[in-house]
Parts: sequence; C-alpha cells; structure tokens
Amino acid sequence: MATILAIESSCDETSASVCRDGAILSNYIANQSVHEKYGGVVPELASRAHMQNIVPVVDVAIKQAGISLSEIDAVAFTQAPGLIGSLLVGSQFAKSLALALDKPLIAVHHMQAHVLANLIQQPAPAFPFLCLTVSGGHTQIVLAKSPLELEVIGESIDDAAGEAFDKSAKLLGLPYPGGPLIDKYAKEGNPLAFKFAEPQIPGLNFSFSGLKTSVLYFLQAETKKDPDFIANNVKDLCASVQHTIVSILIKKLTKAVKETGVTRVCIAGGVSANSGLRNTLEETGKRKGWQTYIPKFEYCTDNAAMIAITAYYKYLAGEFAGLDVSASARSEW
Ligand code: KG4
Ligand code: ZN
Repeated sequence: MATILAIESSCDETSASVCRDGAILSNYIANQSVHEKYGGVVPELASRAHMQNIVPVVDVAIKQAGISLSEIDAVAFTQAPGLIGSLLVGSQFAKSLALALDKPLIAVHHMQAHVLANLIQQPAPAFPFLCLTVSGGHTQIVLAKSPLELEVIGESIDDAAGEAFDKSAKLLGLPYPGGPLIDKYAKEGNPLAFKFAEPQIPGLNFSFSGLKTSVLYFLQAETKKDPDFIANNVKDLCASVQHTIVSILIKKLTKAVKETGVTRVCIAGGVSANSGLRNTLEETGKRKGWQTYIPKFEYCTDNAAMIAITAYYKYLAGEFAGLDVSASARSEW
C-alpha cells in the first residue's frame, strides 16, 4: 500500500492532497484573493501567501484523508514550471517533511500532472490518449502513451488560451481573471455576431497573440463610431471571442486525432472549465466517434490531487528525487 502526500504551489493556489494506491482521499485548495485588485497574480504576494497557507493546508488535507503523518510513504511536490518563489515554498516544505519523516521525495512536473488528472476519475481513458491542456500559462496537445511517457506534440508559440480569454476580457473592461466572465456572458450572446481572424499556424502549434490585437483594433474602430459599443454588445462580443478561441483549439485537436489515429481525447487545465469548449468537444467527439473525457472542475484548475496521482505512478516506477532537487520556473519536460 502506498500513501502519498502531495503539495502544489506553482502559482496562486496552495493545495495539498493525500492519495492511497491511486485513490484520492483529500484535495484541499486555498485560493489567494490578494491578487484580485491588481488585475493579475503578483509573484511576491503569491509566495508570501503560500508561506502563510502551507502548514494549515497540509494539516487540513491530512485530517480530511483521515490519516496520520506516520502513515505517509512518500512526499510529492510540484517542481516545475511556475513562479519560482511560489515553487520554492512548496518544494522546501516537501523536502523538510520528507527529511523529518525519513520518507522518499517525489518531484512532479505540473504540466504532466494536468494531463494525468484525467486518471483520477473512473472510467479513466486507456492509453494511448490525447490531452488538450489549456490553462492561464500553457496550451499544449499531449500524446500520453503511458503514465510516465507523455509527449508534447503541439503547443502555443505565444500566449496561452487562458491568456487569450483574460486579455480579451480586459479589453472588454471585465475584471481579472476574465475567462469565467466571458463564459458567463457568452451563454446569452451570438457567437457569430462578430468575426475575428484565426491564425494560420502550421502543424499542431497554436498562436493566440493575434486574437488580442484583432479584438483591440476592432473595438477601437467601433467605439470611435459609438462610444457605448462595448456596453451595448458585451454578450455578443464575449460569445464571438469564445467561439474563436474554441474553434482554434478544436481544429488543432481534430488535426492531432487525424495525425496520430488516437481517438481517446481528454481536456485539462483551467480553461477546460469553459462551457463552450466542453460542449464543442462533446459534440465534435460524438460526430467523429471519439471517446471524450472531461475531469471534474476541481481537478481541472490547479490542485494537488493531480500531483498526487502523478506521484503515485512515479512511486510505482521507483522515480524518487534527492534532497538536492531544486524547483524550476522553466517548463522543459
Ligand atoms: O489551470 P489554471 O487554473 O491556472 C494556471 O494557469 O495554471 O487556469 C487559469 C485560467 C485563467 O486564464 C482563467 O481565465 C481560465 O483558466 N478559466 C476560464 C474559465 N475558467 C477558468 N477560461 C474560460 N472559461 C472559463 N469558464
Ligand atoms: Zn496549471
């Protein structure tokens, strides 16, 4: 039996989870509201909040799992990528605890964990499967051949899908993070009301920086004619922006299915909470005969349960880290 305590602190959520033989016993997440008034995550404030949160968050996760510290067989943490100050809080805590308990340490890559979040719930996808990981920092298509054999076959060459949502929302005067608000207003808008150009990027890579510029120029031209243009059209604008982002994502995913022949398709990351993306993935999957998998919302956004499940497979494979392992902001796998 393997009981693993996992810690996630790569950005602005402090989270801890306990997993026993691949089953999640707890997944506690503390959000940081301190960033709201700044319109984005402030790295220094994030590190400080992690320092305040880490001990109580781990405590809650252990209690909710109904175990004691002495039952832990390994301590896992997010090693990379992320904000370096935030990662350091989690990694130093995990190392100290592993040392104190004299248990092995497991270093986990945050983006691999987003993909493996799809293994938490049943029925889980069989291997191989494709995963579209869409978050505030990354947009990737990953070919998962086995739990520890993950290959990035496409990614964004500039902004992430979440950034495209958040930056467009900012242009529309919506508060940060604007993704969920675009989703909300889009439900009552016409997705075909306005047309924004989709980038022509070869292969399976994405580009989202052009969309922001295209929305900006369009809004500038329209508000010159009618200063209330945004206020009068916010629902249609949100629906049209969302439609464009979802269309870019689904087209590349369809291409990836064609190129790999793999028809088990998952999504992961904060943007996979988007109702337009979820509906379009389901519809497209039904039409094309794919098996689609969408994790529960708490496993889509940043959480320690995905770190714990990944650590479980590393534990089985004997992939442990030394106490000299260091956190890294960079995203190389
Ligand atoms: O994975 P995540 O929680 O954090 C990381 O970036 O790692 O993703 C956050 C991103 C933000 O850009 C947020 O606006 C976006 O996910 N997001 C959404 C929705 N919910 C969260 N974007 C569109 N529609 C949503 N419903
Ligand atoms: Zn993430």
